[in-house]
Amino acid sequence: MDPLAASLALNQRFPNEDPSFMEVIIESTPLAGSETGARIVEKLVRAKPEAVLGLATGSTPLGLYRELIRRHREGGLDFGAVTTFNLDEYVGLDPRHPASYHRFMQENLFDHVNIRPDHIHLPDGMTADIPAYCAGYEAAIRAAGGIGLQVLGIGHDGHIGFNEPGSSLGSRTRLKTLTAETIEANRRFFSDAGEVPHHVITMGVGTILESRVCLLLAFGEAKAEAVAGMVEGPVTAMCPASVLQLHPQTVLIVDEAAASRLRRADYYRYVYANKPEFQRDASFPVR
Ligand code: F6R
Repeated sequence: MDPLAASLALNQRFPNEDPSFMEVIIESTPLAGSETGARIVEKLVRAKPEAVLGLATGSTPLGLYRELIRRHREGGLDFGAVTTFNLDEYVGLDPRHPASYHRFMQENLFDHVNIRPDHIHLPDGMTADIPAYCAGYEAAIRAAGGIGLQVLGIGHDGHIGFNEPGSSLGSRTRLKTLTAETIEANRRFFSDAGEVPHHVITMGVGTILESRVCLLLAFGEAKAEAVAGMVEGPVTAMCPASVLQLHPQTVLIVDEAAASRLRRADYYRYVYANKPEFQRDASFPVR
């Protein structure tokens, strides 16, 4: 029997067995990458309207959110039963502050789709009791049934969420101190450099790893080294994203520039171009 037919036969024998993979999708531009990402999110939301989505902020997912808004407006993509949990928020920043992640999400997604306000969760950077609050955030994720698909970006240093290099790979939602590099990178969102908070509440690496699917987007040359570390480097706390090598269902979408330091880029392109039909379009089971 040829190997594909054998694999199909196996899938039919064990229909509940989930395939495990890290899929690397190299698209020509950030726009094409954002569209592919949106297609994966749409597939989940259409198959499971009450899906739980983990969301990220920053410049990377902006195109993805624009594309989801378009699909909502033009294609009737319905977020009415979706629940969301964001990765992180600055400590000490009022949710109405223009640089807060609350505002970012309102302006770039929530104001434009029909996600119910009571289904939206973002860490509260103003909480008086951070440890208790973080434990409650974890409990809320569990109570919602866990995160079905977590959208991620990646920092230049390989951080995911705000889990900076050196973060415990088993960490949970907690307070983190930002590195000088991350503070510098985020300065552009604040009118005054002195205003950039030094602390955040972030989901932990362990929290992210429990998401059933991780969808990480990375665009531009500046992300190339972090992407290479994530996919082809050793699994190390020095590049927190590298732990996704241990995650069973991660989809990485990069543009050519972000893929430029991947040693096996040609192989990933070949695999993607020659996928058997049954594996096409993120064949992961919808849960
Ligand atoms: C934001 C987050 C961060 C960013 C990362 C990349 O919620 O979790 O990990 O994804 O810092 O930021 P951008 O996309 O602005 O390059």
